[in-house]
This record gives sequence, structure tokens and C-alpha cells, in this order.
Amino acid sequence: MTSLLPPVASSLQDRLRAAQPCLWTHSGRSAAVEAQLSVGTAMVGVQDIQAASQRFARCAGLLATLFPELQASGGVIESPLVPTPALGRALGLAPQAGALWVKCDHSLPVAGSIKARGGIHEVLEFAEGLALQHGLLAPGDDCNALATPAARALFARYQVAVGSTGNLGLSIGVAASSLGFRAAVHMSADAKEWKKERLRRRGVEVVEHTGDYEKAVAAGRAQAATDPFCHFVDDERSLSLLRGYSAAAPALQAQLAQAGVRVDATHPLFVYLPCGVGGAPAGITLGLRQLFGPHVHCFFAEPVQSPCFLVQMLTGPHDHPSVYDWGLTNQTEADGLAVPRASLLAALLMQPLLSGIYTVQDATLLQHLALAHDTAGLRIEPSAAAGFSGPGMLTGTAEGRAWLQAQNLAPHMAQAIHLVWTTGGLLVPDSEYALFLQRGRVPSPAASVPPPQEAPHGNA
Ligand SMILES: Cc1ncc(COP(=O)(O)O)c(C=O)c1O
Repeated sequence: MTSLLPPVASSLQDRLRAAQPCLWTHSGRSAAVEAQLSVGTAMVGVQDIQAASQRFARCAGLLATLFPELQASGGVIESPLVPTPALGRALGLAPQAGALWVKCDHSLPVAGSIKARGGIHEVLEFAEGLALQHGLLAPGDDCNALATPAARALFARYQVAVGSTGNLGLSIGVAASSLGFRAAVHMSADAKEWKKERLRRRGVEVVEHTGDYEKAVAAGRAQAATDPFCHFVDDERSLSLLRGYSAAAPALQAQLAQAGVRVDATHPLFVYLPCGVGGAPAGITLGLRQLFGPHVHCFFAEPVQSPCFLVQMLTGPHDHPSVYDWGLTNQTEADGLAVPRASLLAALLMQPLLSGIYTVQDATLLQHLALAHDTAGLRIEPSAAAGFSGPGMLTGTAEGRAWLQAQNLAPHMAQAIHLVWTTGGLLVPDSEYALFLQRGRVPSPAASVPPPQEAPHGNA
């Protein structure tokens, strides 16, 4: 298959190699793109998004039983959508450029990150499938039966395994062990010690690897392949994960409607999603694009040293490069985004749908983490701060403005919503969070707020 993407000017590639913030935009609408789009919707279509939402609904009672923190919500795992005008001003977003809102997945209960969505969905789907197979459940039944002694005895025969930089491991480990599965999490060297400790306290086996995320996933996958009683949650290839993430779209649609926020041709919605291997932001983008059509514009955000999705998009589907091939280190304070090579599945699905990708320096992540706290009371981890550079990249750079003009969006920016998806933070220990805050409050020449107005960052 040939690349659907236009040729890219070298200035973007130079900035990427030099680990400088940059913005790549994509405006594809062609026959090839439409064909690719139908491949994506065949894998995660409206009916799959609905099925994932229905699975969460069927399992709400079960989840409220398993996790006391879900009793207040009746087992619903959702996060608030909030307007953040003071943070918008602090980021330099002028009123005529739109309004800043935040989708607070940093506060998602149970796992404390966006990974709760996909991870818990896949564990529930696996458990439900086993229970159906063994006659413990009938199709469409409420899932309370998954917490009975008979179900627990069945699940104890199986292992659920995953490779992770940390947050997916937390989500899978906690969900699987709570149902009675044996759980194993293969952690990359980037994974934070407190995440490993938290899992061990839950009885989850933590397998430590000295290599990066990709090596941890490969090791976990290889070990699982030798055990017929092991279900491996494959962050690079899983459709169940993608479908779980996509269920965020109808929930957001309902929240926007309830808040009286319009999304249409003259009220564009820009969504900024932190990206690691690409599964979480891709699942959400698939959901949003099918619900809001061309009126939603999704941008992925990556650390300057780990822009694996951008590198994949620039290369096209005939190759699978890593950030090391580009002379980058994959070293970042954003542990959840420290991924050297993108998911090919996510990249394939995103080719026709993604509006752009930008990169962010660690100093900016920490500065935005502190601003989010100081102006909006949001307690997020560094990975989750990547979205906050998005409005500046789009409205304050030559490349961003050229793209807005080309899309005919420039006249509508005063009515635009910039929705930053904050993807993790709830469970970060206080001592670690205090250090992040301290570092983010120290003025840094590397991190400018807002980003430089005229830097020609892009591929124009
Ligand atoms: C806090 C946080 N945000 C975003 C992501 C990105 O998700 P994905 O790796 O599916 O792209 C991760 C991944 O672990 C994460 O931990």
C-alpha cells in the first residue's frame, strides 16, 4: 500500500530530529482516504462503540460491587467535562481563538488514567466471554454473576497478562485481580516504582524489564503464547482496547449537549490527546469522528523525544520506524508516552481521520502541569499535560494558522472549543506530585507559554 500522506518539507523533519517542538497537519480527503476510512469503521464502527458502552452498562453493578470508589456513581467509570477559562488565559488563548475545556480522565476512578477505559473493557469482555462459554451467564445478562464463587473459581484458572509503561498495567492488573484472575504485568524500565508497588499490593505479579516499552510488550506476548490459559492484552494490536476507548465518545457527546455546547460547521471542536503507542487516542478519535463527523478535529500530542506516531505517519504503512532511527532517545518525564514505535493498527486507522500531531518538550509539560493546578485545580501527571500545548500550536504558529485557513475554519474560531484530554494523575503519590509542581513552577527558558507565535514549525 502506498502512503496516503502528502510529501513533507524538510523543516519539519529537521525539527523532529533536533527534538524541537513541531506541528504536522493533515487534511486528506481523497478516494484513497475514504477507502481507508471504511477499513477503520469496519473494525470499530458505530455498532462496536455501542456494544462497548452496553458492556460497561451491563457491568456497572458488578463494578460497584468490586470497587467501593464506584458506589457513588453506581459503577459508572466516567470523568467530568469542565470549562477552564482561567487556564485558557494563562496559556495565552485569546477569546477570539476559542474557549478551553478539559475532559478530566486524570480523575477516572479505579485506574487513575485514560487506560481505565480500554483496559477495564478488555478484562470485562474476556471475563464475560469465559462465563458465557461455561454457562455462568446468558447473552445480554447483567454481569453480577461474574462476582460469584463459581465465576471466581473459573477465572482463577486463567492468567491475564499485559506489557506496559505503567498505566495500562495498573488498569489491567487491578481489574483482572479484582475478578479473581491471576494477573501479570510486564513493566518497561520507564515505569514508575510506585505503580509497581501498587500492583504488588494487589497481588499482581510485576515482571520488570530493563528495556523500553516495546521490549516489555514483546516479552509479555512471547510468554503468553506458551500458555493456553493466558490472555494477553496486546496494547499494540487489541481491538477490544480500542473499542473500550471509543465508548468515551457517546459519553462526551452527552456531556457537551448537557453543557449546551454546539458542535457543527460553525462551532468546530478541537480535541488534543496525549499519545503513547496510539491506542487510547485512536480509539477516542474513531468514536468522536463517527459521532461528530467532519466537525471534530483530533490532534495527538507526543514528547519531543518519543514522537513515535508522528514518525509513523511521516513514513507511511510500508515501514515501521522507531524514534531511535530518528536519533531520538525516547527519554521523557511523560512515562506513559515513552514509546519508541507506534501501534501499526492505530496508525492505519488514524491515517484518514487524524488532523495533526505536535510534539512537546518535557519542560513545557511540567510548566503546564503546574498551570493546570494553579489556575484550575487539576492534579495531573506529566503525560497528561501534553494536550495543553495544542491550542497554541494550532492558533499561534504559521503552520497551524495555514491549516485553519485551508480547512475554512479561521472565520469560526471565536465559537471554537479546544478540548484538552487530561489522561492521568489521580493515583500519583503526593510526594511525587509535589516535585512535579515544584519543577513546573521554576521559570524555564525552554518552556515558553504561550508557544512562539511565528515559528514556522510545520510542513507547509
Ligand atoms: C497518562 C497517559 N496518557 C496517555 C497515554 C497514551 O495512551 P496510548 O499508549 O494508548 O497512546 C498513556 C499510556 O499509557 C498514559 O499513561
